[in-house]
Amino acid sequence: MLTVRAPATSANLGSGFDVFGVALTRPADVVRVERASETTIEVTGAGAEFVPTEPAENTAGVVARELDAPAHIEIDKGVRPSSGLGSSASSAAGAAVALNELYDRGLSREELVWLAAEGEAVVSGEAHADNVAPSILGGFTIVTDEGITRIDADLPVVVCLPETVVSTREARGVVPESVEMDQMVETVGNASTLVAGMCRDDPELVGRGLTDPVVTPARADLIEGYDAVADAAREAGATGVTVSGAGPGVLAVCRDCDQRRAVASAMVGAFGEAGVDAQAYQTGI
Ligand code: HSE
Repeated sequence: MLTVRAPATSANLGSGFDVFGVALTRPADVVRVERASETTIEVTGAGAEFVPTEPAENTAGVVARELDAPAHIEIDKGVRPSSGLGSSASSAAGAAVALNELYDRGLSREELVWLAAEGEAVVSGEAHADNVAPSILGGFTIVTDEGITRIDADLPVVVCLPETVVSTREARGVVPESVEMDQMVETVGNASTLVAGMCRDDPELVGRGLTDPVVTPARADLIEGYDAVADAAREAGATGVTVSGAGPGVLAVCRDCDQRRAVASAMVGAFGEAGVDAQAYQTGI
């Protein structure tokens, strides 16, 4: 049996809607594969009851089909579904890497990203690579139709997950169809600042670049307690806060590793005051 660890990811990072993504040091899915005459899937771990095991409906199963690599696939979910941490993408990414190895298909890492994105289409209805790219390549990734750019990055972050669910489809439904010129200018400025920050491992610049005047405000309305949680994280020292992926997870960038404990506690406390149970991961990019 071949085993792969596929990290959770956070996409968008505010100003980089459908473009930016980062791999997180934790949590992660563990995907085990073994050759079989037809694909079967077994899922255990966080939120396993919400993950379909029918291969045609599971991101890993779709990857096995696309790669013509039938296998028994065991997925131990560390990344809770519908949390904003690219749960389905982690399983797709892990399956793509593992099955490519198991069947000696010889696909490059970038080719595997596009393959895993096909698996993602099963869940979101569209093939997004902004979660699968960092899960497979690591670090900070910039995905466009022209290709993928990867940057090594090292920053402390906290991701706080409320015990509520926001589906990617619902979160995409509230995104405005058009933007004003001043919003576009602000977004380009923030996205550029964020990229510079990633290149320098600079939490101040990355935090500043997380701000987004279009997508995040629309999605924040779907997350009970978001504004209070974001304020609490900043008061505890976070340099910037945004919705993780399609939500409802909330990501905060910290100045240093030691600060994560206070930021995590402030975020969980603020969700609690809004009547929402939450758990926080002290993690990193
Ligand atoms: N970038 C996409 C979105 C993917 O925010 O809708 C979410 O996982």
